Amino acid sequence: MSIDGYVDTAADERLLLSNDADFDRVDGVRAGCDAILVGAATVRQDNPRLLVRSPDRQAERVVRGLRPTPLKVTVTGSCDLDPDARFFTLGDVEKLVYCATPSLDRAAGKLGKVATVIDGGDPVDLHRVTADLHRRGVRRLMVEGGGSMHTQFLTESLVDELQLVVAPFFVGDSRAPRFVSDGTFPWGPGRRADLAEVRQIGDVVLLRYKLSDRFGAA
Ligand SMILES: NC(=O)c1ccc[n+]([C@@H]2O[C@H](COP(=O)([O-])OP(=O)(O)OC[C@H]3O[C@@H](n4cnc5c(N)ncnc54)[C@H](OP(=O)(O)O)[C@@H]3O)[C@@H](O)[C@H]2O)c1
Repeated sequence: MSIDGYVDTAADERLLLSNDADFDRVDGVRAGCDAILVGAATVRQDNPRLLVRSPDRQAERVVRGLRPTPLKVTVTGSCDLDPDARFFTLGDVEKLVYCATPSLDRAAGKLGKVATVIDGGDPVDLHRVTADLHRRGVRRLMVEGGGSMHTQFLTESLVDELQLVVAPFFVGDSRAPRFVSDGTFPWGPGRRADLAEVRQIGDVVLLRYKLSDRFGAA
């Protein structure tokens, strides 16, 4: 996020917050996960690849008996997703779409050839999603945004570790999306989160918070 807590601008083009060294660090974190999840708005707006980039890290995963890159997961109520988005077309790995029950038939028709479409409830229940991911073998899930997903995972106490990177500039526009939106977070003035690490990476800083006893378990 920016110094003032934004993860994008209000304009169409994507805002780059990290530097090269931090993007590489994120690639390493991805390589250590079983699945990567983003909200449907991020798929629509950013069209992210969500792949492990480094050939060495891909090869290490294959040696461990894994696919070169983790499963991709998204959550949608509307099912307004383009089957040609890079989320679906890139990476020889399964793509999972947790869809709200009323859109299930439409989602299956639209995305059934490029993804596994799963009934997530109405609205999609993230406890149900994580339990289903666990049944599918996912032990370490990386949630890469956007703010709606961050807010729900945090307020529902589904997060073991928060990695927050602060970029050295301001966005200064309240129309832009923030790292989280309003909500009742388990960590407030009366219950401070446990800061586990502070690391300078060039001109950005990484803050790692321990949010459950499972922190670092994987
Ligand atoms: N800087 C960063 O690290 C970073 C990372 C990722 C994203 N971003 C930015 O974040 C912004 C997008 O964030 P966002 O908060 O607007 O959206 P988001 O979290 O990416 O996705 C929100 C969408 O996910 C679906 N959704 C979420 N929870 C749901 C539930 N419980 N049940 C059913 N559907 C659910 C809905 O999709 P439908 O509308 O399809 O129903 C909702 O509109 C973009 O500007 C992007 O650039 C920044």
